[in-house]
Amino acid sequence: MTKPKILVARAVFPETLALLSEHFEVESNQDDVLWSKAELARRLADKQGAFTTGSERIDAELLAACPQLKICANMAVGYNNFDVDAMTARGVLATNAPDVLTETTADFGFALLMATARRMTESEHYLRRGEWTQWRYDLFAGTEVHGSTLGIIGMGRIGQGIARRGALGFGMKVIYHNRSRLSPDLEAQCQAQYVGKEELLRRADHVLLVVPYSAASHHTIGAPELALMKPTATLINIARGGIVDDAALAQALRERRIAAAGLDVFEGEPSVHPDLLTVPNVVLTPHIASATLSTRRAMAQLAADNLIGYLTQGQPVTPLNPAVLASA
Ligand code: 8YV
Repeated sequence: MTKPKILVARAVFPETLALLSEHFEVESNQDDVLWSKAELARRLADKQGAFTTGSERIDAELLAACPQLKICANMAVGYNNFDVDAMTARGVLATNAPDVLTETTADFGFALLMATARRMTESEHYLRRGEWTQWRYDLFAGTEVHGSTLGIIGMGRIGQGIARRGALGFGMKVIYHNRSRLSPDLEAQCQAQYVGKEELLRRADHVLLVVPYSAASHHTIGAPELALMKPTATLINIARGGIVDDAALAQALRERRIAAAGLDVFEGEPSVHPDLLTVPNVVLTPHIASATLSTRRAMAQLAADNLIGYLTQGQPVTPLNPAVLASA
């Protein structure tokens, strides 16, 4: 029997490729070349499956050029690179990689919060420049983390993980805003109180964003929202570029209308708004919140399991548009 053909669109762990090759005829991209949309469509034209990351846009135009495609398995929990409606309309299954990265990403969100509040990279750069000549009472004095008020916008699994770290580990008062309120049970576990977005922005000492990207969440934080925040507050974005208006944020940071920001994701990444590169009070990281080797292995395994499960037995692990299964 001939094996189904799949495309692995980006470089992956060699063991992931080895596993996929047991089940499929695999075209890979271990040189990690960034293909144009036309090139991606050309390579997918004769494939039944695609192993994707957040960098590959799967939309109606691409799907029209790939009539054999049955599944795209994203090695990411976020899937704003997928037009899921267009995929469903074409009978193409979409899968993501939830759960396996929750705690690792929550760890990173908390690390970025602490690095931002305590000015860790700004002070390190000062030290590396050889400017540290003496101790001073207010040298890189930051803002308090323990006992402060943590405001989380987007209270999914990762948001809840951060809330638990804040409330249980650092004695923080946790307030959150979400499309829907958590059950009383979950609120009690996270020791988190539901509030409106405006109240959260006014009260929080640290505002942390973990909301999925969609047209509705575009610029959740722009100039009007930044204006509501305390001048001593910090803003942390581990969600997606586009959730924050980066130009407005850079201006607020430069004018010290908020104290500092920590950003792992950017509008138009890997490009970074040039003004963010010149303001000192921002910690910048290159989209690494889920980046530990064991978590990235687990994400790759889940994406591979979705491809194998669906293309060999019709049973994916984490489908996003199960309507495709019902009509298959
Ligand atoms: C991924 C992420 O590494 O899972 C997500 O949604 O943002 C990251 O964990 C990235 O999207 C590449 O696929």
